[in-house]
Amino acid sequence: MQSSYITEELTGPLQELCSQYLCVLTIFHIINRYFHTTDERTFMDTMSKLSHDPARRDFLKTTAIGTAVAAAAFSGIINPLKAAEPEPFHFPPLPYPENALEPYISARTLNIHHDRHYRKYVQQVAERVKGTDYQNATLEKIIKETYGGITMIETLHLMALLAWNHDFYWKSMMSGGGATMPERLKGEVTTAFGSIDNFKAKFKEAAMTLGSGWAWLVIDNGKPVVTYTEYHDTPLLKNQKPLLTLDCWEHAYYLDYQDRKGDYVDAFLNHLANWQFAESNLPATASAPSKTKTAKK
Ligand SMILES: [Fe+2]
Repeated sequence: MQSSYITEELTGPLQELCSQYLCVLTIFHIINRYFHTTDERTFMDTMSKLSHDPARRDFLKTTAIGTAVAAAAFSGIINPLKAAEPEPFHFPPLPYPENALEPYISARTLNIHHDRHYRKYVQQVAERVKGTDYQNATLEKIIKETYGGITMIETLHLMALLAWNHDFYWKSMMSGGGATMPERLKGEVTTAFGSIDNFKAKFKEAAMTLGSGWAWLVIDNGKPVVTYTEYHDTPLLKNQKPLLTLDCWEHAYYLDYQDRKGDYVDAFLNHLANWQFAESNLPATASAPSKTKTAKK
């Protein structure tokens, strides 16, 4: 991935420089051949004659324009073939600056996680949907319809899962998160787990169970439930409605926490969790429990 960035960065300026050089060289060559000039002085004499010779001036003008267009096409400024290509697959940016989650998740971790890992998943999806019925499909549709496939379809399914899970993970965090839950979510969570602290303990237990995977707060059968999925799995395939997730793969935390995974989970729950996002994912049918309902617990 890094080498391709370098290639892209070098190719543009180099190509542009070559184009400009080619343009000048071609004009000089054509004039030289047309007017039988052989050296720079003769070339300059020839150029001065142009203002007195309309036919030659028109020829040179046409040649210069044609050469410039050809050079622009070569450099990518004008590229009719490029215009016919499909739009590049959308690579969603982070919903906040890379350093927004410091000191709990460093900008370096977020940069590597988002710009390398996540970019790879999104690009893999983009490459595999080309020319298929999924070219304009949502990740959710791809995930559900490619489940159980083999070879290429299986890879598309896994990459779509990873892309969707990560997108949900970015949104599950915010600068200054982890504070008091909004009322509706707080009511649902308190009813389901007895207290916010109990919910956090359950969530941490799920996160610590995993080697590589995801800890989730989901709605299952109308109630908030803590669960986890291993590797590339997602609650979307289990008729569960995700509210919030934590990426528990090592690449998500190891640069900042090494083997102190528990500190990473605590930081998420107490300083990063975007409770507003979690509440926004509550189904419309799930209503804030009344005090009476809470009392029954
Ligand atoms: Fe990840």
